[in-house]
Amino acid sequence: MKRKKILVTSALPYANGSIHLGHLVEYVQTDIWVRFQKMQGHECLYVCADDTHGTPIMLRAEKEGISPEILISRVWLEHFEDFSSFHVNFDHYGSTNSEETREFACAIYLELKSQGLIEARTIEQYYDPVKQMFLPDRFIKGECPKCGAKDQYGDNCEVCGAAYTPSDLRNPYSAVSGAKPELRESEHYFFRLSDERCRTFLREWTRSGTLQQEASNKMQEWLGSDLSDWDISRDAPYFGFEIPDAPGKYFYVWLDAPIGYMGSFMKLCKERGIDFEEYWKKGSETELYHFIGKDILYFHALFWPAMLEHAGFRTPTRLFAHGFLTVNGEKMSKSRGTFITARSYAEHVKNTEYLRYYYASKLNGTMEDIDLNLEDFVLKVNSDLIGKYINIASRCAGFIAKRFDGMLSSSISRENLNWLEKAFSETFDEEGRPVDRGTYIAACYSERNYAKAVREIMSVADVVNVYINDLKPWELAKEAGKDEKLHEACTVFLNAFRKLTIFLKPVLPELAEKVEHFLSVHPLRWEDLGNLLPPGHRINEYSHLMTRLDAKSIEAMVEANRESLKPVGHSPARHAESQIHHQPVLETISIDDFSKVDLRVARIVKAEHVEGAEKLLKLTLDIGSEKRTVFAGIKSAYSPESLEGRLTVMVANLAPRKMKFGMSEGMVLAAGGEAGLFILSPDQGAVPGMRVK
Ligand code: MSP
Ligand code: ZN
Repeated sequence: MKRKKILVTSALPYANGSIHLGHLVEYVQTDIWVRFQKMQGHECLYVCADDTHGTPIMLRAEKEGISPEILISRVWLEHFEDFSSFHVNFDHYGSTNSEETREFACAIYLELKSQGLIEARTIEQYYDPVKQMFLPDRFIKGECPKCGAKDQYGDNCEVCGAAYTPSDLRNPYSAVSGAKPELRESEHYFFRLSDERCRTFLREWTRSGTLQQEASNKMQEWLGSDLSDWDISRDAPYFGFEIPDAPGKYFYVWLDAPIGYMGSFMKLCKERGIDFEEYWKKGSETELYHFIGKDILYFHALFWPAMLEHAGFRTPTRLFAHGFLTVNGEKMSKSRGTFITARSYAEHVKNTEYLRYYYASKLNGTMEDIDLNLEDFVLKVNSDLIGKYINIASRCAGFIAKRFDGMLSSSISRENLNWLEKAFSETFDEEGRPVDRGTYIAACYSERNYAKAVREIMSVADVVNVYINDLKPWELAKEAGKDEKLHEACTVFLNAFRKLTIFLKPVLPELAEKVEHFLSVHPLRWEDLGNLLPPGHRINEYSHLMTRLDAKSIEAMVEANRESLKPVGHSPARHAESQIHHQPVLETISIDDFSKVDLRVARIVKAEHVEGAEKLLKLTLDIGSEKRTVFAGIKSAYSPESLEGRLTVMVANLAPRKMKFGMSEGMVLAAGGEAGLFILSPDQGAVPGMRVK
């Protein structure tokens, strides 16, 4: 086989948040593919980096009182550790805020400019006069022009779903300072995608087999309507790279983000003496693959190849887009505890290969969303990995150690060799033609249809288990004179186990390493499928390779992630229980008395600190028919961020009360007192405005 040179990337995660289980779909998918290519003997390099520029990172650093550089270096380490804990093995993990990326960004920009593909144009944009900066769309809020809902973002309404531009918003305000923004003019630079050269190139490129069919269709749709030019500059203050010869103008984060692939790869080239040109020059014979989520297809299938093409570089061999992760069939949600960070998974579940296996069993190479069903996760890991795979070794290894001094038998009968051959070499393709199993599984990996690979691997494991149950080593062990039979049976099954380990190694690298140690063999490669453990080979003592996944650890993880929305104070409920002193129940009232109180489900659409108030938060509550402002004495227990978006219950017909800070139009229900403060939440399914009776 020809040894290929392959460069692989995953999308660069933003440096303004933690890695969560959704991200991991992509990094695990890519890592499995890279490990598979490496096992095949190809020279496959995997690079990635943090995506560090833009307004959100600048503002977050400011809020934390640190420089953006400090913020991104802290996040870099956190991301890198998270990826390592999930065995995502980059050849280089860099940062877009590097000299290499800056140089490429400037060079590409200048080349596009000399090609006549950059144009300066004056545009009108919202400006925050207090903060003194132009505002990106998501930092402008206001009333939806269509349905009038308050506090909607500048690009679309979360209530009615309307899409619009920030200038359509009614009563816009800056989400940074609260000030009323002004429209101001500024000169921006545009990449002229509407130029005939770009359009012709993209029409061709997006149809040439570089995209999955579904992605290609989507692109044709986009290309069908007129491609507009792309605004690639932003005004100071901005955290990013200043544009050459344009003081105060910066590259928009999405311009330098994909260039970060090159920058990170350049660092690797310097480290290892690799020839950068060989990989990136036009007409390169190496292969370049980008793994991405479907949400960023537009950038990778239009802007990026057009930039590369016209700046004189090669374009990607293929883009591999995947779908989004849902948990228990729904979007990841903080209130349900299913917005799970990589870190919290690692803390609670510990074994990260369970999740790699589960994702593998679901990923089929398409753009369909994949679901992490937590119950199914536990069942599948335990029944497949433990029940079918690990059990093969755990049922045979002990006998080799105890009865045969750790040595495998010196020969295997013809009958058993035939069995091994049949179990591992014969299967049938879709058309019913016989194919070699190793080849079949390799093709599944290569097509990124890991779900199909895993199904096939588990069906081999089933075949092995049937034979173990036929031969029953544990019974042979009890019968006199069956030593040789026992010895050979265990040898055959450990050989089967070794082959299964080769199949699973791209998915379970850490486990494979443990197996290599246990079997005392060199790192397994795909070509090792063609041979057996040497006769009389000595293996190491068996120690637990993997334990069952305990459903309790999953529950604890979900609870812990839910907890991030609970009070900020350090008084968990269990603690409060022992502290509470029970007050007597008040005098009886009639049902009529009670029904005078109009209790409503309310959504906290906004929560803010109140200048000069020690205990109060100002809440904006949506009760369906209208919005209410309520000043609630819950500042000691809740941060405003933790409240926004959640549902609670309010007294809607309480007489309004004039307070120093404004009118309070109702009351939010909360339990507690000295032992902590706990606002009420309705059960899932309730919506703002529902009466509570
Ligand atoms: N910074 C950009 C990418 C720049 S690439 C030159 C970005 N970052 S991200 O952190 O938002 O996402 C990184 C990758 O993770 C993207 O490919 C994105 O699609 C993927 N995912 C983020 N959340 C996801 C899910 N919930 N499910 C599956 N993948 C998701 O986009
Ligand atoms: Zn609306």
